[in-house]
Amino acid sequence: MSTVLPRPGAAPATRNGTAAAPRPARVRPAARRRGLTAGIFGIGSALPERVVTNRDLEQVLDTSDEWIVRRTGIRERRRLGEGELLAPLATQACADALADAGRTADEVDVVLVSTVTPDRVTPGLAPEIARALGATGASAVDLSAACAGFLYALDHAAALVESGRAGVVLVCAAEALSRIVDHTDRSTAVLFGDGVGAVVVAGGDLDLGLAGFVLGADGEQADLLYADAEARVLRMQGQEVYRHAVRRMSAATAEALQRAGLTTDDVDLFVAHQANRRIIDAVAAELHVPSEKVVLDVHRAANTSSASIPLALHQAERDGLLKPGMTVALAAFGAGFVWGAGVVAWKERVHACA
Ligand code: COA
Repeated sequence: MSTVLPRPGAAPATRNGTAAAPRPARVRPAARRRGLTAGIFGIGSALPERVVTNRDLEQVLDTSDEWIVRRTGIRERRRLGEGELLAPLATQACADALADAGRTADEVDVVLVSTVTPDRVTPGLAPEIARALGATGASAVDLSAACAGFLYALDHAAALVESGRAGVVLVCAAEALSRIVDHTDRSTAVLFGDGVGAVVVAGGDLDLGLAGFVLGADGEQADLLYADAEARVLRMQGQEVYRHAVRRMSAATAEALQRAGLTTDDVDLFVAHQANRRIIDAVAAELHVPSEKVVLDVHRAANTSSASIPLALHQAERDGLLKPGMTVALAAFGAGFVWGAGVVAWKERVHACA
């Protein structure tokens, strides 16, 4: 497949190489919020046991710990062992999320799993996770939206709950990027890791809940970051992806805050997709979010695609940075391109009852 890259400052190129007219900004209607409001009530996460440090990668690639840390902030990543499956790890994270929310598997109406690396091409991960949990009454489906998949799934879960179509939705992001990385390509092999994060979404009499969600997609840029079905290897134009990621996440977060009726000053924590520390810092700077409010988890888990946000949220909670009632801004960007942002009142009802 030929790759068409836009020149810096040029109008975005289409896939047949012609210049595309810039798309006019569209004013989005504010989401209707009435009755029950969806929120997050519990969280769980799991990482494979195998740790791969930058020093380990120095042994097999022409790279250095110094280069990786300086350019990305990554110090280590986890990888599934040979033949190890994602479903058991995801089931553990989901069980922990349910326990944290004080819910049982038989209460779950929908299991929604974001993944680009399921154990099998078909069936997806979700039915197996539902079976292993004992969520026998639940529907179960995978969703593929690359690194923005967790935010897409959260938005879908909120819609199901707020429309009354579901009472409890288990949202899980489960990824094994080590399965689709070219382990001989130093420009991508060092960036990615494996892991799982899950949250329980349900309804309540909440003030904010899951608010202001903004999702977007631009298929014109697909060739900048992709893995073909046959080769199943991730290819990326790093600098172009970097540029788009900063622009899209900054704009989407600003819009999400506006839709939620909030400003940056209202944000207690900012949790962006953990792709690269420099991207996260650039988005935070663009939004004027001070560094002490920016959650960084990329050093320990690297880029785990859609799992990176729930992994970072869970780690922030364990570190005592994230507490019930806090207002958290979320932002993500990934292959597609797809992106999203939203505002979450963290475990708001737990806070209200405390
Ligand atoms: N170790 C050592 N050197 C490396 C390297 C590695 N792992 N990877 C690339 N290099 C080299 C390049 O070959 C290049 O060498 P050259 O100058 O001799 O040609 C040099 O480092 C600079 O490469 P460049 O691509 O310009 O680096 P960069 O500062 O843009 O950083 C990324 C590269 C990939 C870290 C950065 O572009 C990035 O983070 N992009 C976004 C990627 C991403 O997050 N994707 C997922 C989004 S969901």
